[in-house]
Amino acid sequence: MIAKAPWALIFVVDYAKWIDLFEHAGCFEPEFVERTGKAPRRAPGLGDFAIAAQDAVIAAQNAVVAAEALGLGSCYIGDIVENAEEVAELLDLPPYTMPLSMLIIGTPRKERPAIAHPVVNLVHEERYCRADAATMDAQVAEMDAMFRPHAREVGDRVIDIYTRKHTSPFMAEMSRSMEWWFKNWLGK
Ligand SMILES: Cc1cc2nc3c(=O)[nH]c(=O)nc-3n(C[C@H](O)[C@H](O)[C@H](O)COP(=O)(O)O)c2cc1C
Repeated sequence: MIAKAPWALIFVVDYAKWIDLFEHAGCFEPEFVERTGKAPRRAPGLGDFAIAAQDAVIAAQNAVVAAEALGLGSCYIGDIVENAEEVAELLDLPPYTMPLSMLIIGTPRKERPAIAHPVVNLVHEERYCRADAATMDAQVAEMDAMFRPHAREVGDRVIDIYTRKHTSPFMAEMSRSMEWWFKNWLGK
């Protein structure tokens, strides 16, 4: 599916651009630091990551909406963060970057009707509210309904996510790679 897609867009969380611009504008010069009293050079931190990651995801989601408006279909590919070392080399990604998300775009083979998505336990007012057993039963029922006919027995969808994703080797690889990417983000 990925190899055959006419477009595969990768959305990179990018602070290398800013570091280069700061350097270009002379912000790291001792003279600049002395004259302005500003802090000396530092690597991007997790605060910078929070903003830059949101920028990347906003761009990706806008691409989803634009593709949809043109009658195209798309699928997010979170797996792009895996095999960090190889992907960094393949795309020539410098320090202070992370490829957070990939989007493949193509022409849908057939129109798929919109499916009603679960809404129970999704929005919290004022404070985070942990679901009680009754709420979780309702949530599980909604999820099973969405994934019928695959979900046959109560809780099948939750168990499916646990076995196919939460405990899968690909998720272990994603976590290993994300540690690598965070080191790259911090310039280590
Ligand atoms: C953050 C995110 C990452 C995803 N990563 C992958 C992926 O790596 N491989 C894949 O085949 N689908 C991936 N998907 C697509 C989902 O598996 C699923 O098919 C899709 O979200 C369902 O969309 P729908 O609810 O519009 O049917 C991802 C979806 C999201 C939101």
